[in-house]
Amino acid sequence: MIRVLGIETSCDETAASVVALDGVAAPEILSNIVLSQIEEHAAFGGVVPEIAARAHVEALDGIVEAALADSAVSLDEVDAVAATAGPGLVGGLIVGLMTAKAIAAAANKPLIAVNHLEGHALTARLTDGLDFPYLLLLVSGGHTQIVAVRGVGDYQRWATTIDDALGEAFDKTAKMLGLPYPGGPNVEKAAVSGDAGRFVFPRPMKGSAQPDFSFSGLKTAVRQAATAIAPLSDQDVADICASFQAAVADALGDRVARALARFRQEFPDTARPALVVAGGVAANRTIKGTLEALCSEAGFAFVAPPQKLCTDNAAMIAWAGIERLRAGMAGENAADFVPRSRWPLDSVSAPLVGSGRRGAKA
Ligand code: KG4
Ligand code: ZN
Repeated sequence: MIRVLGIETSCDETAASVVALDGVAAPEILSNIVLSQIEEHAAFGGVVPEIAARAHVEALDGIVEAALADSAVSLDEVDAVAATAGPGLVGGLIVGLMTAKAIAAAANKPLIAVNHLEGHALTARLTDGLDFPYLLLLVSGGHTQIVAVRGVGDYQRWATTIDDALGEAFDKTAKMLGLPYPGGPNVEKAAVSGDAGRFVFPRPMKGSAQPDFSFSGLKTAVRQAATAIAPLSDQDVADICASFQAAVADALGDRVARALARFRQEFPDTARPALVVAGGVAANRTIKGTLEALCSEAGFAFVAPPQKLCTDNAAMIAWAGIERLRAGMAGENAADFVPRSRWPLDSVSAPLVGSGRRGAKA
């Protein structure tokens, strides 16, 4: 039996969780506490790093206590403490990692420094028991990536954004249209009563031989359309949202279709190839529908873990800790580990100019 306490503080969620694996049965999430700071940041239309760091300091001890209490596992009984060490907002990372180091030292347990993106990448093995290799589409407020997940610690980034992250594009679009933060769910809600054919927005990178994403041109097109017809009625807003979402789904679908084809070529022996989605944007039904259709056409399983485990949480960090322990890759000197605001999953692929600009959310 392996039990790991996980801690996540890389952006605007303060989270702690205990996950257990007994080697025979499926892994079990014994507790999963997430405190969102959305209300603290809403007035600013985005995450404010100083506010986030302070909120983590205030909340983390209580959240860890609650996670242990909920799991009915004592600190003595955990095998290791895993904490997000990057990428993300450095203030929050320091709070989480230092707290984890202190707990690990006091309880005489090993500390595992986890890459937040690895947490997202391995979640589908916690929830769906997926075998390697599989393809991951990570679409959140800070990252838009397609990653080939080949094994624990073995990731290859096949595509990333050259400018805005997709969640960021949703949030900025919402802001332009006067919709509240966070923008994604509000754009989706407004789009329901909109005409997706009223505006023809660009599909950035569609058909391009370069596999990456781009969303800033789309954002500019939305701004121009909105300015041209201002003041906007509710119907105008709905139509812009629906047209924006259609453009996003189309552009995303094009990029993902390419990656599915590449996966087939590179991993021809995978019996049941799968596409896993993670990140807040994965909640969007139009996007989900597009991806589902693509997967069924290409013979891929479409795996969308429960939303609570798609967005930032500590169960995925605890699980990544278990995976690393099992693989003998827990890292030896994690007590000396320094938080990294930038920490690509794939150390081979060169960073793209402008990608993960905000570097905050994954
Ligand atoms: O994964 P997440 O909760 O946090 C990180 O970025 O790490 O993702 C948040 C992002 C925000 O940009 C939010 O606007 C977007 O996900 N989002 C959505 C939807 N729900 C959340 N975007 C589109 N449609 C949604 N339903
Ligand atoms: Zn994330």
